[in-house]
Amino acid sequence: MAHTFVIFGASGDLTNRKLIPALFQLSRKKRLPADTRIVGFSRTPFEDATWRTRLAESTAKWAGKDFDPPLWAAFAERIFYHAGDIRHPDDFDRLARLLDELEKDRNSTRIYYLATAPQFYEPAIEQLGRSGLALENTCRRRVIIEKPFGTDLATAKKLNAIVHAVFDERQVYRIDHYLGKETVQNLLVLRFANAIFEPLWNRNYIDHVQITVAEEVGVGTRAAYYDRAGVVRDMLQNHLLQLLMVTAMEAPVRYEADAIRDEKVKVLHAIRPMDAQQIHKNTFRGQYRGYLSHQGVAPGSRTATFAAVKFLVDNWRWQGVPFYLRSGKVMSCRTTQIVVQFREPPFMLFTDGPQGVTDSNRLVIQVQPAEGIQLHFETKVPDAGMKIRQTDLDFSYQREFRGAIPEAYERLLLDALEGDASLFARADEVEAAWSICDPILAEWQTSDRPELYIYEPGYWGPTECSQWMSAQGRDWFDTCPVLDGHHT
Ligand code: BG6
Repeated sequence: MAHTFVIFGASGDLTNRKLIPALFQLSRKKRLPADTRIVGFSRTPFEDATWRTRLAESTAKWAGKDFDPPLWAAFAERIFYHAGDIRHPDDFDRLARLLDELEKDRNSTRIYYLATAPQFYEPAIEQLGRSGLALENTCRRRVIIEKPFGTDLATAKKLNAIVHAVFDERQVYRIDHYLGKETVQNLLVLRFANAIFEPLWNRNYIDHVQITVAEEVGVGTRAAYYDRAGVVRDMLQNHLLQLLMVTAMEAPVRYEADAIRDEKVKVLHAIRPMDAQQIHKNTFRGQYRGYLSHQGVAPGSRTATFAAVKFLVDNWRWQGVPFYLRSGKVMSCRTTQIVVQFREPPFMLFTDGPQGVTDSNRLVIQVQPAEGIQLHFETKVPDAGMKIRQTDLDFSYQREFRGAIPEAYERLLLDALEGDASLFARADEVEAAWSICDPILAEWQTSDRPELYIYEPGYWGPTECSQWMSAQGRDWFDTCPVLDGHHT
């Protein structure tokens, strides 16, 4: 069976930086079926050859030492370009003719990738429907839709309705690239391929969970987009809630897209809704000093670049166990980590033993960049009476497996090609995530509470956020990992 990837938004940054390098890597690793073609669609008028040359340059940059010119030359022969405007029906009719010509055998699974600016998703889907390009008369047709999927619940529902007027849900692949990260998939393996963690993975043994996505970079050239989005739309609604779902879900009945997503969605449904007062109490927001000086940011903008939220998950497993989620730009280091903080021992025999929850066992899942897992536990210091100290079992991907960790897009593109939607968000999942974020967005928009704290670049967000956590008898795990696998 042949495959054709049609990329809308072909001249854009995502295509250059992620999609083509990922497809090239798959081809280099011989995972891409040999008869896969790539067709780019965007307004810029290029010939096939010009586009191939431009992609060679960007791929060489992003694929680094894996870029091999002879391999690229063979790969590039399968790349084609079609200049067109998403708003012009004729351009889709011409695209349909080009695709028919390229796929002479008529037996090609087609994947339409929407890598355009989000305002073009709706017209692109409508045109795919109108031009017959979505019909599955002879072969499979799928659509991959990039984030952001809507800007709130209402827009996400509208977009889902437009998508479903043209495609069945089984044809739709909504991207959240965090699900393509090796370490996020490994969380499923850690939990469901081992017997020793699951019995402890509940309210009886866990005090709380912290999920942090800290970034060192600011908003850079994306300021105009970011100023309208803010951290809740950009990170919380998707990446952070995905990490929460995978951490908190029940074991699916089988490793299959709908079984997995059924369990994930149940977690979102179990998150306790918050009224205005609870939002004031359980959410925290900040903006980094210097944010207002970016070109594209509205004067006096109150967009949050940092958020921390305490969620409660009302089910048998998690009742009373807070999940603290936080994300921010311009923090002390780039780190994504999930910290499972266990309870204190019920009775402390040793006077020098752990005092309080902060000193108790902790499982730290380093999602990136120092991919690995550490289990912290108490150990007797030798030759020092009964002095006790916290030590680590420390697993690092780098030490164990060597080799670079693949980009999330490689896995996701291959899965879409093979028709496996396990690592993609389903319609109800995206809508449930918006239902959680909408009240926070509305309250932050209309009220001065919680206060918007200005934080200094290079730290862990507003210092007040650390006080907020301490007041609950807990501490943020503010630790920057180092790349050899040993955290500092
Ligand atoms: C994107 C956000 O979805 O994820 C960006 O729009 C963010 O603001 C990025 O920087 C983070 O992704 P990663 O893979 O670098 O952690």
